[in-house]
Amino acid sequence: MSSHSTISPAIYYWGTPVVLVTTINEDGTPNIGPISSAFWLGNRCMLGLESNSQTTINLLRTKQCVLNLPSDDMVAPVNALARTTGTIVVPDIKISLGYRYEKDKFAVAGLTPQPSDLVAPPRIQECPAQMEAELAGVHEMMSSLPGEAKGFTLAVEVRVLRTHVVVALRLQGHENRIDPDAWRPMIMNFQHLYGLKSGKPEVSALASIEEELYRLPAENPGH
Ligand SMILES: Cc1cc2nc3c(=O)[nH]c(=O)nc-3n(C[C@H](O)[C@H](O)[C@H](O)COP(=O)(O)O)c2cc1C
Repeated sequence: MSSHSTISPAIYYWGTPVVLVTTINEDGTPNIGPISSAFWLGNRCMLGLESNSQTTINLLRTKQCVLNLPSDDMVAPVNALARTTGTIVVPDIKISLGYRYEKDKFAVAGLTPQPSDLVAPPRIQECPAQMEAELAGVHEMMSSLPGEAKGFTLAVEVRVLRTHVVVALRLQGHENRIDPDAWRPMIMNFQHLYGLKSGKPEVSALASIEEELYRLPAENPGH
């Protein structure tokens, strides 16, 4: 007899790293967008982004970003950024999720901008790993969805141009390697923030959002 049963989750956030994406706004100020839909192949990163986020608007316009990786002890700044957006007119969907407009994300999160070498967006000094990157491709996801949901998410490919890491993350005796024992990524696991080994560090502000509010319109009713 099988021990499994079927469920229909509204979200499939099985556990991915938190990335703080810095970009440049239309007025030249920096923005920070916390995301967690990210995977890495070679020097490329695929980002899953809502098309109405300020991060997405800035990245498509300027073709530049920095991917800043927080360690698992950076819960406070990530929670401070949760449910904020750099879009002046907050989209209705985000209002219903409890989002508010925040002009100065660095100030609200208590983070420090650090100049980048090759791109305009600043790095985040407190993040142990920072990758300067440029836009490499855009794919519209969920294009079969009806109505406004169509085009709501994009898979955005970026090319890493330069990687900065704190000395403590470097694997001794190697020029270009990270010590996995020293690196403590923050993992977003069904809206909660975890470390890889030490368990859930703190309360996650994002987790106060009810999962069902994320449910997308059905594509094939009955399946
Ligand atoms: C931990 C965490 C993970 C998130 N993951 C994503 C994600 O993978 N993709 C996404 O589009 N938004 C994600 N969000 C929501 C964005 O932060 C939100 O869209 C926000 O509006 C982005 O800021 P911006 O509008 O200033 O770019 C996440 C938020 C938090 C706090």
